[in-house]
Amino acid sequence: MKIAVAGKGGVGKTFIAGTLAAIYARDAQPVIAIDADPSPNLAVTLGLSETEAGQIRPIAENEELIRLKTQTDYPGVFRLTFTVDDVIGKYAVPTPSGAFLLVMGTVRSVGSGCTCPANTVVKALLRHLIVERREIIILDMEAGIEHLGRGTAAHVDTMLVVTDANRKSLETARTICKMAEASPIRHVGLVANKVSSPMEGEVVSAFARKNDITILGTVPFDPEVFSAGVTGGTVDEKSSVAMEAIRGLAHRLVDMS
Ligand SMILES: Nc1ncnc2c1ncn2[C@@H]1O[C@H](COP(=O)(O)OP(=O)(O)OP(=O)(O)O)[C@@H](O)[C@H]1O
Ligand SMILES: [Mg+2]
Repeated sequence: MKIAVAGKGGVGKTFIAGTLAAIYARDAQPVIAIDADPSPNLAVTLGLSETEAGQIRPIAENEELIRLKTQTDYPGVFRLTFTVDDVIGKYAVPTPSGAFLLVMGTVRSVGSGCTCPANTVVKALLRHLIVERREIIILDMEAGIEHLGRGTAAHVDTMLVVTDANRKSLETARTICKMAEASPIRHVGLVANKVSSPMEGEVVSAFARKNDITILGTVPFDPEVFSAGVTGGTVDEKSSVAMEAIRGLAHRLVDMS
């Protein structure tokens, strides 16, 4: 399974991507979670401390690696093809959740055709992870839609579009779904998150019906998750209603694939 998690800023992409990664990893499945969002939250969701998270150097900022992969003997000329399979073993960080974490750093222009050396490395790496690896790959994407254009995310098999009941989140979700549907991605669906009342659930359902989009999961607003977001603490997964809903989503995704 190769899953990308997209949506408007703050809707819960990182929480859902990280929780899914932890659930699959606990089943002893090899999982690589990819942080394509420059904030360190995915690392924390996977059980690393903020200090540990801060020590991870993003691939896009790793100058030695980028030089090693792309430098030629000619100044100003760099290589466009190189192998990257070694990078995973070297830079994917083990986390307490059992999933490995690869922090890409800013990959904003991956879809824009930008061919600077850092982007070339990140792009090759994403392509390798999504197209060639056998692990479960979960890509926590940056907020918004700019990066989706011709990006490597087009090669995932599943695109989860996270939204809450807010109109702006739904509007972004609609745009992402339309773009994803025009791509080769096999499964595109909404995950309604932070749903705190039947009315909010109905708002997302009505939106999905109107736009002919599947809802793959509904995750309730969970005060425990909210507090953990404020205090930096951890969530007790046994009592977390949101995590329980994400376990249901995880099973559904396995059935679908
Ligand atoms: N189901 C939920 N119930 C309560 N709080 C939630 C829920 N899902 C996420 N949150 C909280 O919402 C905040 C934003 O979540 P998260 O960082 O996962 O969003 P994001 O979409 O990745 O944001 P960004 O676009 O900034 O990367 C966090 O504080 C998180 O703890
Ligand atoms: Mg995030």
